[in-house]
Amino acid sequence: MRLQNKVAIVTGGGAGMGLAVSLAYAREGAAVVVAEINRANGEAAVQAIRDAGGQAIFAQTDVADSAQAAAMVDAAVEAFGGLDILYANAAVQLVGKDARAHELSEEAWDRTYNINIRGVWLCAKYAIPALLKRGGGSIVNVASPTGLLGCAPGFTAYSSAKGAVYGLTRVMAADYARDKIRVNALIPGATETPLTRELFADDATRNSLIAATPLGRLGRADDVVGLAVFLASDESAYCTGGFFPVDGGLTAI
Ligand SMILES: NC(=O)c1ccc[n+]([C@@H]2O[C@H](COP(=O)([O-])OP(=O)(O)OC[C@H]3O[C@@H](n4cnc5c(N)ncnc54)[C@H](O)[C@@H]3O)[C@@H](O)[C@H]2O)c1
Repeated sequence: MRLQNKVAIVTGGGAGMGLAVSLAYAREGAAVVVAEINRANGEAAVQAIRDAGGQAIFAQTDVADSAQAAAMVDAAVEAFGGLDILYANAAVQLVGKDARAHELSEEAWDRTYNINIRGVWLCAKYAIPALLKRGGGSIVNVASPTGLLGCAPGFTAYSSAKGAVYGLTRVMAADYARDKIRVNALIPGATETPLTRELFADDATRNSLIAATPLGRLGRADDVVGLAVFLASDESAYCTGGFFPVDGGLTAI
């Protein structure tokens, strides 16, 4: 039980890697707030946690909405008495709408930015006062190989917003280190989830990503849970401002 007596919020915790992390945090003893825009998936995640003997509540949340991000933190404090961990995972990749710069609509740009970077900041903005009250905590921002070393060609909004996650991670790490709030970025590789289902259905894309991944396969949602638990737990007490890949070696070559 590496997260015993901790309270965690997982944004986008109802599907894909967020679901895997919600389940893992609960298995490790944390009380989990599944903060999810999709009610059915969020409630199913909570049910699965409770069925396994864990503690969880659902907070219907659009991370791009300030009032909902604030309410998500209030729900954690009300249900579980405080907050220790924010796993900022919710994001979108608008396949078919995200595009090269001159072909991209302002609507697709704004939606991607509102969720993928403004949403990460908003959740931190409301979570940090609760973490300060606890005397510290851990924020894990889910980034991407895209924006760290290279890009996802044709995905101008997604690539550039994910790039901003690194800057946000570092400035928050610097600003809150003396408050014992650690802020790190977890970098998944090409991982099979609902987000990538459409993209990876294309054999050429799929095969090129497998070929680019030294470990020779796509990621599975569960691949991130070991690192996600480590970064949330006291085991990573000396880690802040770091970028941690769990990507089959994708960013190594
Ligand atoms: N899958 C990959 O290959 C890959 C690679 C690198 C980084 N990532 C990143 O990992 C994270 C998780 O990705 P995934 O593949 O598991 O995605 P996913 O689409 O499978 O799951 C994302 C979850 O976030 C929720 N969500 C979407 N918008 C939301 C909002 N506005 N407010 C609250 N919840 C919202 C969705 O309902 C969904 O449950 C994302 O930040 C993604 O950018 C994914």
